[in-house]
Amino acid sequence: MSSKGEINDLLLRQLIQNFYNGNLNFCLQTDDINTMNWDFQQAFLDATVNSELLKKYPISGKFASLYLKKIIQNLEPNQEVHDDFYSQLCTSMNNLNEDGFSYRHYLIGNDTNNIVTIKETRNMVVNGTTGLKTWEAALMLSDWALSNPEIFANKNVLELGSGVGFTGITISKLCNVKSLTFTDCHNDVLKTVCENIEINLPHYKQETIHGVTMFKNAGKSLNVMMLDWNTLDDLPENVVPDIVIGADIVYDPSILIPLCNVIKTFCFRNKHLEVYIASVIRNEETFSLFLKTLGNMDLEFDKLQLNKSVLINWDESIDKCLLKINARLK
Ligand SMILES: C[S@@+](CC[C@H](N)C(=O)[O-])C[C@H]1O[C@@H](n2cnc3c(N)ncnc32)[C@H](O)[C@@H]1O
Repeated sequence: MSSKGEINDLLLRQLIQNFYNGNLNFCLQTDDINTMNWDFQQAFLDATVNSELLKKYPISGKFASLYLKKIIQNLEPNQEVHDDFYSQLCTSMNNLNEDGFSYRHYLIGNDTNNIVTIKETRNMVVNGTTGLKTWEAALMLSDWALSNPEIFANKNVLELGSGVGFTGITISKLCNVKSLTFTDCHNDVLKTVCENIEINLPHYKQETIHGVTMFKNAGKSLNVMMLDWNTLDDLPENVVPDIVIGADIVYDPSILIPLCNVIKTFCFRNKHLEVYIASVIRNEETFSLFLKTLGNMDLEFDKLQLNKSVLINWDESIDKCLLKINARLK
């Protein structure tokens, strides 16, 4: 059997990244397969399904079984297949409850030591909300933030329609914010954000005051609170962010005016407020209506460049937009 020194590191890293990125769209050439000896397979298993992180927070059984099956099918004609591939395939096939939650582990900078773990579903709508999965715009916005951490350093950030919290958690972990307030209108979503904060920032101490769940550590705080754009009267006056962010929140024409009202309210509270909204443009008309509504409310915007994924993988081929919005100061 070959020694560890002979492992094809580049291929190993690619297969590990594909696994974490949920990517089944890859081909293995015969030359590659010939390098996937027992030690290679052991290294792959150790970095993925055998890792403590994945044992504690298992990924979707459906994806894991498809991925393992694909590797096994490629290996079988050419290599002795590691026993753990078969046992892990059985485990994942017994864990196919796709209506429920599983965990996704997002690699930052393709580094298996720098991971944001998110409990989420793979379904677009669950319990009447789109907020229980991570959307592409969340990956784009987080990637852009990680490339511009100085914008967020020591700032009080508030996220609108945070969903399960990937963007807010990534920025909290890696951009040295003073505080980050996750907001959404759905109770299941807010409960899941709290769980995701506990997973990723376990050293933060949790307390709940007046319906706001707070996680505190070394002068920094993460807050989770209900904010429905349709019921702005409930917004406490002491919520005054420096920066407002939102990912994939421009999709329903009926909430564009309430959404712009929220942005305007925060602009009134802080005349230096900066707002960053990342969108996947699925419907040109809806997006144009959003821009028009911003204009009608005297909210100026610039379109920021968002070309390539840098530290977080996202689909560069989609129609997208990152807006920076400011109040027009009179
Ligand atoms: C498509 S999801 C995006 C979630 C997350 N930002 C992401 O990109 O992964 C839209 C989010 O907006 C929230 N939302 C929709 N209408 C809302 C409203 N009226 N007030 C507050 N949040 C709302 C939903 O609950 C959901 O979490």
